[in-house]
Amino acid sequence: MIRIAPSILSADFARLGEQVQAVEAAGVDRIQIDVMDGRFVPNITFGPIAVACLRPLTRLTLEAHLMVERPEDFIESFARAGADTIIIHQEATPHLHRALQQIHALGKKAGVAINPATPAILISEVLANVELVLVMTVNPGFGGQEFIPETLGKIRQVRNALRQRNHPCDVEVDGGIYEETVRRVVEAGANVLVAGSAVYDAKDGAVAAIQRLLARAGSEPD
Ligand code: DX5
Repeated sequence: MIRIAPSILSADFARLGEQVQAVEAAGVDRIQIDVMDGRFVPNITFGPIAVACLRPLTRLTLEAHLMVERPEDFIESFARAGADTIIIHQEATPHLHRALQQIHALGKKAGVAINPATPAILISEVLANVELVLVMTVNPGFGGQEFIPETLGKIRQVRNALRQRNHPCDVEVDGGIYEETVRRVVEAGANVLVAGSAVYDAKDGAVAAIQRLLARAGSEPD
């Protein structure tokens, strides 16, 4: 089942609660909250308070994508704020395995993300310790960027590595996911598609945009 994970990075922050509830009506099962610290990525967004504010408004799975240095310093606060899945970057900590154990110890699902320049082999030792692998298809920090086609081979590599281990795990992609690119990432093995500007900048609204993405991905809305 192909899933769309709307990224709130492109939402209207003046009415964030409504924007989350709008995509819930479109039948998605999760949203992605893009956390940026201005160090790991050249942009700053929000902290655990964004998760805490949204938590009571929605039953959707809240994925906190921590684009931050030393994510182990923040895992607990996002878990307590109500995140269901916490995604950390392989590049952001020398103790990736321990940080993933910390996420599980808090009763949350763990995800590991890799940037475009990071080879898939660098997460091979933790594939059994995650429920989600996020292959970044742009350099993280901003919405509305151009899809990086060189990441398609890596998506394939990750999906094949998971198949060989017979390990059920989402392969998620993030960045530059539009109608023009969605088919290619699904064919490469992605099953969760993070989309920010394709959803929230759509002229005919988020619900129609999500349904178009699902149709192009070859998976009709639920
Ligand atoms: C990292 C962010 C963005 C965002 C989606 O830069 O994580 O990738 O979620 O951006 P779009 O869908 O607008 O390319």
